[in-house]
Amino acid sequence: MTGPLEIDWVALRTSAREVAGRAHAPYSGLRVGAAGTDRNGTIVIGCNVENASFGLTLCAECGLVSAQRAAGAGPLVAVSVVAGDGAPLVPCGRCRQLLMEAGGPDLLLDADPRPRRLGELLPAAFTGDDLTQRRDGNV
Ligand code: THU
Repeated sequence: MTGPLEIDWVALRTSAREVAGRAHAPYSGLRVGAAGTDRNGTIVIGCNVENASFGLTLCAECGLVSAQRAAGAGPLVAVSVVAGDGAPLVPCGRCRQLLMEAGGPDLLLDADPRPRRLGELLPAAFTGDDLTQRRDGNV
């Protein structure tokens, strides 16, 4: 039997703030840090990395999901994304899509006054199921 998960939101937000401090954001001036955990408590982090060729920018959540895979972590159950001011930041649309595949609709996102489900922020998401069901039969 597995009981309800205890998420240490203070630790997650603290990790997100720390990694935001290591972001490379000289063009926008907006530092972003992300920290997430799987159900076993494996913590992964990421920060945004900008480039002089602006369109190449990597959001903090891109680094986060790469770190999730690199660490061999399981599906993410809780994520804190913060800006350089330390307060939660809502993930951009693209990153909601990334997080959907990394954790699913029940993933909890840090927010004030309380965490929000990803399924609330990205309802009716396109997923791998749509590919399976809709692609040409011979692909
Ligand atoms: N950014 C993120 O890292 N994650 C988001 O969800 C929103 C935007 C970054 C990208 C860019 O470096 C800066 O914030 C301004 O858009």
